[in-house]
Amino acid sequence: MKTPFVTAIAICLVSSTWLLPPQRPSPHPDAGEQSAGLAQGKAIFVSRCSTCHDDNGNKKLADGTTLLARLAQSKDPEARLGTRLKNPQERRQVTLYIRSMIEQYASTPAGAKPH
Ligand code: HEC
Repeated sequence: MKTPFVTAIAICLVSSTWLLPPQRPSPHPDAGEQSAGLAQGKAIFVSRCSTCHDDNGNKKLADGTTLLARLAQSKDPEARLGTRLKNPQERRQVTLYIRSMIEQYASTPAGAKPH
């Protein structure tokens, strides 16, 4: 069950990196650098944030929302992450990691809510 899902995420990630660069302004458009940053971001998130947000940001918070849901509804998820991650490099890396899951979340029917 899980493997196709992970594959789909990977495909989304790759295609969003390669096919939609104009919609994804980034200070580092280089794909190799992005995937390195993404791996770093995952390491940071899993080690420091997953206790309370799970590895995928999908753990319910007290008000019933999740970090992922909140970020998906935000115009600027990186800025919101900045409230918790003061280091700009870490913030960018975690944004890279979480952005793929935001896109996944936003593309599922349950998450496809209007802003
Ligand atoms: C000790 C538990 C805990 C840890 C660890 C933790 N968080 Fe959270 N975080 C929370 C809770 C609880 C909330 C919800 C607070 C609220 O209701 O506004 C929250 C909210 C947030 C928000 C605000 C979402 C919004 O509404 O804008 C961001 C961003 C966030 N966390 C990012 C992170 C990141 C990134 C890390 C790791 C560096 C992290 N958190 C680690 C418990 C935690």
